[in-house]
Amino acid sequence: MNSFSFCRPTDFFFGRGAENHAGEYAKKHGGTRVLIHFGGGSAIKSGLIGRIEKSLDEAGIYHVRLGGVKPNPRAELVYEGIELCRKEKLDMVIAAGGGSVLDSAKAICNGVPYAGDFWDFYMGGKKPQAHLPLGTVITIAAAGSEGSDSSVINKVVDGVVRKKGCNLQQNVATFSLMNPELTMTLPPFQTACGACDIMCHVMERYFTNTKEVQITDAMCEGVLRTMVEMFPRVMAHPDDYEARANIMWAGTVAHNNILGVGREQDWGSHRLEMELSAMYDVAHGAGLSVVMPAWMECVMDHDVTRFVQFAHRVFGIEPDFYHPEVTARTGIAALRALWGAAGLPLNFEELGAKREDIPQMVAHITHDDRTEGHFVVMDGPFITKVFEHAADYRRP
Ligand code: NZQ
Ligand code: ZN
Repeated sequence: MNSFSFCRPTDFFFGRGAENHAGEYAKKHGGTRVLIHFGGGSAIKSGLIGRIEKSLDEAGIYHVRLGGVKPNPRAELVYEGIELCRKEKLDMVIAAGGGSVLDSAKAICNGVPYAGDFWDFYMGGKKPQAHLPLGTVITIAAAGSEGSDSSVINKVVDGVVRKKGCNLQQNVATFSLMNPELTMTLPPFQTACGACDIMCHVMERYFTNTKEVQITDAMCEGVLRTMVEMFPRVMAHPDDYEARANIMWAGTVAHNNILGVGREQDWGSHRLEMELSAMYDVAHGAGLSVVMPAWMECVMDHDVTRFVQFAHRVFGIEPDFYHPEVTARTGIAALRALWGAAGLPLNFEELGAKREDIPQMVAHITHDDRTEGHFVVMDGPFITKVFEHAADYRRP
């Protein structure tokens, strides 16, 4: 196991009615003037924003609204949010929505006290010296942003949409209020995209070259097995509270890095997916369901035993000791079957992506001779192979 440091000080409240504690938690963490940040309308329609406002009113906390965050959140609204916070002298942001809303809020929190352009944090190198505290009320179990140190933003640079992430300790939410019932209004496709993203966050950590990481291996496998059980259950019964609750906490655990400490992590599939969601504005989880299994097939020969372990411990497939690659492939097929049955796309055509755009996406990823991934380090030709494999896959 590798040495590591791990600090995730988020104050969580989990359970029915969590959002009604917004006022109490904002006060506890020093908020007096709050920006409520949300998306395209689902949080208004469900009454969530009204309940958060009521809770803040009861705690005597001033609040201002800024809605309109789009999936694959845009830099323009971040700039607007930063200006609004400065004008209104706000001292806290509460993000109510999905990963896109939370990531937009994180960018605002870091941007308000910063004299330069918040995008500096996403281009690498610069770190915010100060930031506003962030509270979150998540409405989709997916990105894990409520417990992660990441934020991902889209910005048009030189006429091209670029999607960039930044990982900073300052991005870790001060408090997160998690009510599984809030996810019951999700369209089935969004529920499926979220479940896929959760599984991928675990798998990006699971496929590693680090030896002797039994504790995090077992924790990853436990989360993945839970998802294999709960994902079909929630697709069949969207109002199954226990399934929603298990998936919601799985989403947080999958990406607050408790499963990733002490081990090399991969993240190649996520990087490739970011090109797909930047170019086609597709849901992140949908892009992953196309890329991740294709990546697995391209890299499995590197450590077929790890793929056998995955197939056996996650999907209960009996190992074929004479033909381990058959077991490995059966595991990947089981993953595709799970995702495909939930209505997720499995190739470029189903996603709405085009094979002829592959060179442009690869060029974005490999500028300045960059490589991606760690389990297998991918150069341009290898990334092209993964994308082409994802493009050409056909359902059995
Ligand atoms: O805008 P509204 O009307 O709220 O609709 C949203 C949106 O259209 C809808 N939705 C959310 N909760 C709902 C709901 N509709 C009905 N009922 C509800 N309860 O769902 C749609 C998708 O929302 P979005 O926030 O985009 O989804 P998700 O949570 O999957 O976030 C995806 C974004 O997170 C980034 C992705 O790249 C993508 O930009 N990621 C962020 C990470 C992080 N910060 O740690 C890590 C991830 O790997 C990921 O990259
Ligand atoms: Zn993700």
